Amino acid sequence: MFRTHTCNELTAAQVSEEVTLAGWVHRRRDHGGLVFIDLRDRWGLTQIVFDPNVNTEMHSLAQSLRNEYVIQVAGLVRRRPEGQENPKLATGDIEVEAHGLKILNQAKTPPFDINKETPVDESVRLRYRYLDLRRERMQRNIVMRHEAVRYIRNFLAEAGFVEIETPILFKTTPEGARDYLVPSRVHPGKFYALPQSPQQLKQLLMVAGFDRYFQIARCFRDEDQRGDRQPEFTQLDMELSFVDRGDVMELIERLMTGMAESISPKKILHKPFPRLSYDEALARFGRDNPDIRFGLELSDISAIAASSSFKVFSDTVAGGGLVKGLNAKGLGHYSRKQVDELTDFVKDFGAKGLAWLVVGEQDGQLVAERSSFAKFLAEADVAAIIQRLEGQPGDLLLFVADKFAVTNESLGRLRLELGDRLGLRDDSVLAFCWVIDFPFLMWNEEENRWDPSHHLFTAPMDEDIPLLDTEPGQARGKQYDLVLNGYEIAGGSIRIHQRELQEKIFGLIGLEMEEARHRFGHMLEAFEYGTPPHGGIAPGIDRITMLLAGEPNIREVIAFPKSQAAMDLMANAPTEVSEAQLKELHIRLR
Ligand code: AMO
Ligand code: AMP
Repeated sequence: MFRTHTCNELTAAQVSEEVTLAGWVHRRRDHGGLVFIDLRDRWGLTQIVFDPNVNTEMHSLAQSLRNEYVIQVAGLVRRRPEGQENPKLATGDIEVEAHGLKILNQAKTPPFDINKETPVDESVRLRYRYLDLRRERMQRNIVMRHEAVRYIRNFLAEAGFVEIETPILFKTTPEGARDYLVPSRVHPGKFYALPQSPQQLKQLLMVAGFDRYFQIARCFRDEDQRGDRQPEFTQLDMELSFVDRGDVMELIERLMTGMAESISPKKILHKPFPRLSYDEALARFGRDNPDIRFGLELSDISAIAASSSFKVFSDTVAGGGLVKGLNAKGLGHYSRKQVDELTDFVKDFGAKGLAWLVVGEQDGQLVAERSSFAKFLAEADVAAIIQRLEGQPGDLLLFVADKFAVTNESLGRLRLELGDRLGLRDDSVLAFCWVIDFPFLMWNEEENRWDPSHHLFTAPMDEDIPLLDTEPGQARGKQYDLVLNGYEIAGGSIRIHQRELQEKIFGLIGLEMEEARHRFGHMLEAFEYGTPPHGGIAPGIDRITMLLAGEPNIREVIAFPKSQAAMDLMANAPTEVSEAQLKELHIRLR
């Protein structure tokens, strides 16, 4: 037997037992003639003592040990001397008095400390990912991810779901990103596309009668990287037959609650999860992925602004725009410089400026103590605005006047920024919420046509189908997003299951029937063979684990992630390939 115990197992119960352990040298200390080794494996640490009086030869061998050497140790478990216990370690009551030591492998000095959480440049961490993964933080995150997936598998198997794998070499899937293409050797000039999601296949599995499908599915999207995006990422992909929106949401809510509570110490803030319409989310938070851990909600002052004599406000409303504000509670002491910083912040999101007002009090009335625009307004309008934002003396009120999208985006971002500055985004809580009733279509300014706001296969609300002929922009879709602490962690919908409606939607978004048949002929055909009503959802495993683990980006919960520039810095991919390989694939580089 290679080892009798792991490095986290021995307690006072094993005192006087002969044991063998194996692992890495986490730390070596020499004192009082003794050599102490903290031996590490993935389960924990055990203190080993080499005493020259027990075994001189082993003691001098122990003096040659360096951090990260791999060793096997045989010895006797004994109680640590009185006062030397370490209550922070599971094995802190004991130590192993070694009489045998075998160096299984030596190690070069690692490029960074494995045994300390010292900050290391991320490119170095990714270059030596196998060493970074040895560190406690990454071990914890990767194991937590495993626990999340294990919980999901057990839960769904219980609930009658079948886990089915779908192909990676497939055809383009319309999720809105660029495809990764794979050239075919056998079919010159033809390409597979890696799936942006298993969307079409999971719907076809419903046609096939599996009723409840899931998969821990790898998805590939060639899009610009962000902290919460990777070119390849993992979804819990699911599809269910004979369900409505409420059924899917109720199931996911039970799954998420159970999973979060079983693997994370964080507290769920609202149960059941609040449901916001898309319109309400934008009105209150400026975004369709609101962080509802804190207030600082947006207020619409367009009605007051419209009739005011501050032209920035009145012209915006006259031009069909929106004036909204938020109350930065207690920030009335902000200097001009600090307010200018906030102004620059919103300008990054397209705003033309940031109007501000510090609330004061005069003769028992709330007034503008200082402001960039109050002088242009009647006193009554100033009072109405302060009242609308529930301003109190010492509050800083901030306003943006612009087109609908710019006002919401810039103030929505400013709200998050202020939430950070004011410490309101409590990392110990989980605030889930649903966003529903999305517009079915979004107008694409560049292409001058309608785009599906989710994807091509999402169904419109039954009662809104007539609107598709009259006012398509007003129709809502049967789409739902799950949001956690300001991140979209899942998206899904009830699907179209009749060919006629599907063809009508293709028509609306200007997809020629011939093109539709070329891309989705297999689905249109399948829909003619008895398709059950169905719907599904796809929670992003990376984002959920990131939030449960309290990490700032998804690279921290992926064993081998790509860098911000979509590179694997360890293997150095992508790389050039040989002329012979290209030739075989019928490809010539320009
Ligand atoms: P959607 O495109 O909304 O829906 O994706 C679902 C969830 O996947 C996660 N996600 C990502 N995570 C990391 N990196 C990325 N690049 C990335 N892109 C998406 C998000 C998101 O909420 N087929 C549909 C689902 C359905 O309709 O059932 C789909 O893929 O957490
Ligand atoms: P000005 O009259 O240009 O000096 O602007 C007065 C105040 O209005 C300043 O605080 C500007 O930052 C602000 N401002 C200008 N344009 C906008 C806008 N579109 N929305 C909100 N505030 C604005």
